[in-house]
Amino acid sequence: MTGPVTRPLSGPAWTDAEALECAMVVPETADTATFTFRAPSGAWFDYQPGQFLTLDLPLPGGNVQRTYTISSSPSRPLSIGITVKAQTGSLATRWMLDHLRPGMRIRAYGPAGVFTNHRHPAGKYLFISAGSGITPMMSMTTWMWDSGEMPDIVFVHAARTPSEIIFRQRLEGMADRVPGLQLRFTVEETDPFRAWTGYRGRLNQIMLGLMAPDYLEREVFCCGPEPFMQAVRDMLGALGFDMERYHQESFAAPARNEAEVPVLDDVVPDETARAEVVFALSGVSAPCTETDTVLAVAKASGLNIPSGCTFGLCGTCKVMKTEGEVHMVHNGGITEDEIEEGYILACCSHPMGRVVVAV
Ligand code: FES
Repeated sequence: MTGPVTRPLSGPAWTDAEALECAMVVPETADTATFTFRAPSGAWFDYQPGQFLTLDLPLPGGNVQRTYTISSSPSRPLSIGITVKAQTGSLATRWMLDHLRPGMRIRAYGPAGVFTNHRHPAGKYLFISAGSGITPMMSMTTWMWDSGEMPDIVFVHAARTPSEIIFRQRLEGMADRVPGLQLRFTVEETDPFRAWTGYRGRLNQIMLGLMAPDYLEREVFCCGPEPFMQAVRDMLGALGFDMERYHQESFAAPARNEAEVPVLDDVVPDETARAEVVFALSGVSAPCTETDTVLAVAKASGLNIPSGCTFGLCGTCKVMKTEGEVHMVHNGGITEDEIEEGYILACCSHPMGRVVVAV
């Protein structure tokens, strides 16, 4: 197991070539825990608050990859933490809660993601979250606290019951000390053992107006289940909020209806057109059609390209393309600079003819 940290921060930042070691497991609520990881080499962690990690979890039936928002803050770079809540039927998160213990090492990919206040600096923020969607908000709030900025955050969070409000005490500890962090919790049901004097019921327009009367002046970050975020979008849109200043995080596949399908201005894959993916480092060449993804061709060829979301969001499947053209429609998991450098996301890239990748 990694020993105590005894030297000041120095040396290189962690990269996902090194497995992470679980250092601490802290229960947060009945079905939620924070897992803190360190790099066995002592490397420190460099990321932006609000980003996510993809973990490669060794479940009994085979490894599965899952993406989780980082709940720790890069202002505390000796370790990195994620906070997970076991949803009904969730195998991977349940496995973590039941089996992932200090000393165990697992592979992780990232950090990645664009849901961060660093990309949208503002004087005033409105954070709106539900359930475990609180994790990126915790990371961004801790960052602001640690950086010594006096935050101006209205922190709205919806939970089922008071005892399911993750990080409640830590947030209240911060909010007690500075006037600029205003906590506004709402719960669907009260707890029999704990008095509740906050809001009750689902977040609605009237409640939002009471919680953050100046919401029109704030940069909004929203994270939670898709129906919750849809309700927030509808609410803000109806209230005349400038949706350019609305940002959301979701790990669910984006809804696709006709209006949302991007207009393609380049060639589109043709299922009858022959194509080929050459995996240069493995010495494998696989014939396919243009409608196959590079990831699917790799899998069918017995090669492993790590992947998470499989719809172009998390960036886990990023690989270097050295020859040929692909048709790629992603959801923000790759930057324009990376595309310029030659990277592609294997999960959403279709080979247009012969393509060579460094796999
Ligand atoms: S697996 Fe997430 S971007 Fe490809």
